[in-house]
Amino acid sequence: MHICAHTHGRNQIDMKKYFIHTYGCQMNVHESEKLAGILSNKGYSKCANENDADIVVYNTCCIRDTAERRALGNIGVIKGLKKQKPSLVVAVVGCMPQQDGVADSIREKYPYVDIVLGTRNIAMIADEIDKVLQSRANLKKRSDKKYRCFNNVLPDDYLNIDEQTPTLRTSYPNAWVNIIYGCNNFCSYCIVPYVRGRELSRSMNSVLDEVKRCVDEGYKEITLLGQNVNSYGNDLSDGTNFAKLLHSIDALPGKFRVRFMTSHPKDLTDAVIDEMAASDKICSNLHLPIQAGSDKVLRDMNRRYDREKYLSLIDKLRSRMPDIGITTDIMVGFPTETEKDFCDTLEIVERVRFSNAFTFIYSPRKGTPAALMEQIPYSIKQERISRLIALQNRITKEISDTYTGGVYEVLCEDLAPKRSDKVCGRTDSGRLVTFDGTKEDIGKFFNVKITQSRSASLFGTKEGDVL
Ligand code: SAH
Ligand code: SF4
Ligand code: F3S
Repeated sequence: MHICAHTHGRNQIDMKKYFIHTYGCQMNVHESEKLAGILSNKGYSKCANENDADIVVYNTCCIRDTAERRALGNIGVIKGLKKQKPSLVVAVVGCMPQQDGVADSIREKYPYVDIVLGTRNIAMIADEIDKVLQSRANLKKRSDKKYRCFNNVLPDDYLNIDEQTPTLRTSYPNAWVNIIYGCNNFCSYCIVPYVRGRELSRSMNSVLDEVKRCVDEGYKEITLLGQNVNSYGNDLSDGTNFAKLLHSIDALPGKFRVRFMTSHPKDLTDAVIDEMAASDKICSNLHLPIQAGSDKVLRDMNRRYDREKYLSLIDKLRSRMPDIGITTDIMVGFPTETEKDFCDTLEIVERVRFSNAFTFIYSPRKGTPAALMEQIPYSIKQERISRLIALQNRITKEISDTYTGGVYEVLCEDLAPKRSDKVCGRTDSGRLVTFDGTKEDIGKFFNVKITQSRSASLFGTKEGDVL
């Protein structure tokens, strides 16, 4: 016992440390969990402050200009730390360096970056760290050139994302499970298909095994991830599809919830809606990005659905699941959007009544068709997004009000921000609820009576545990 404690203590001191910066969507959050698993397998431990790190990884996003600028700003800042600590290894991975020419520009502008990997080869990080360290050791002996890796290959069928090394999950009681990589849709504004490659589905067995493992480990919510989960199975050519996957997951034993994102409206089938409605475990909650309310803009965006199709999906969903929470993404300021087109967006938002909406100002992405179109002034985009946000805030609040007085099953997910006597979690429909509780409640289901609502948040009191 004593010896163990001693050895453990020494390992703690000798252990090298890692720090990962994560930008972008849930896919990146999850891939950072995989990177953490790989680094921990190599004997690195996580540190709370990047100043203590031996390796700093930037897992980047390039969906909008702001996302890129934030990552680049922070990569610039690390220069100071690298000066104080020349042994530091700096890695930039993910979507940003996967864009045409960006790896080269990082090579030139940030000479202290040692490793650059893309989106489909992050598992190479383990070997690349060894090569960098080996080359530095050699440098001390002779005037060798130091080793730097700039590898962002992306053949359509190439995938070197480690699914064997245990993922170091960071979002208990939720576990992210990826079901499909890449995107084939080429919406005219979007960089994702260029940086994430073509769609590649994981096998149904491999997804089911991972979900089972998570449930056995005590995770209570599984969120299936993909740029377009509704395309799941299309590339497997064995009859597998998303509805069948949902059906098999729902049949697994245990009490847990299932959510998924993101659904493309053009591919949301009746079979998927039927599975959602019939299932115990799949939440009545759907993220269904609409992007715009004008048929002309939807066409120019290459979304391949129109208002009518979108509204008919909403009708179907609500007729099968009256309490469903539907959230969306909306973009304003697409190059061809006129004031009238924007009013169509406001009108459809009023009509659908989303429980919540993520709103974005269109940002031209180099290499996409929309970036070549004539752009509209930023001031117009800003003015439009403020009107849209004001409208959605009103609707969000009105929907929140409808919850007060009701009792809902809530999975306790975390302590409320800056509190140790309040916890928060979500209803099946995805609404955030804060209620009295302690950290022991995290991962448990409760019936919560809603006593108050404030914009997107609800407040309540426990009515009892759910067995
Ligand atoms: N695959 C998902 C979305 C991925 S990106 C889907 O198809 O719905 C998340 C959101 O970012 C998109 O829904 C869109 O609203 C927004 N987005 C994508 N490209 C953008 C751009 N160039 N400028 C501004 N917002 C963008
Ligand atoms: Fe981008 Fe469209 Fe693919 Fe979503 S579906 S990732 S918006 S190209
Ligand atoms: Fe960003 Fe890449 Fe996700 S561009 S939004 S991190 S797929």
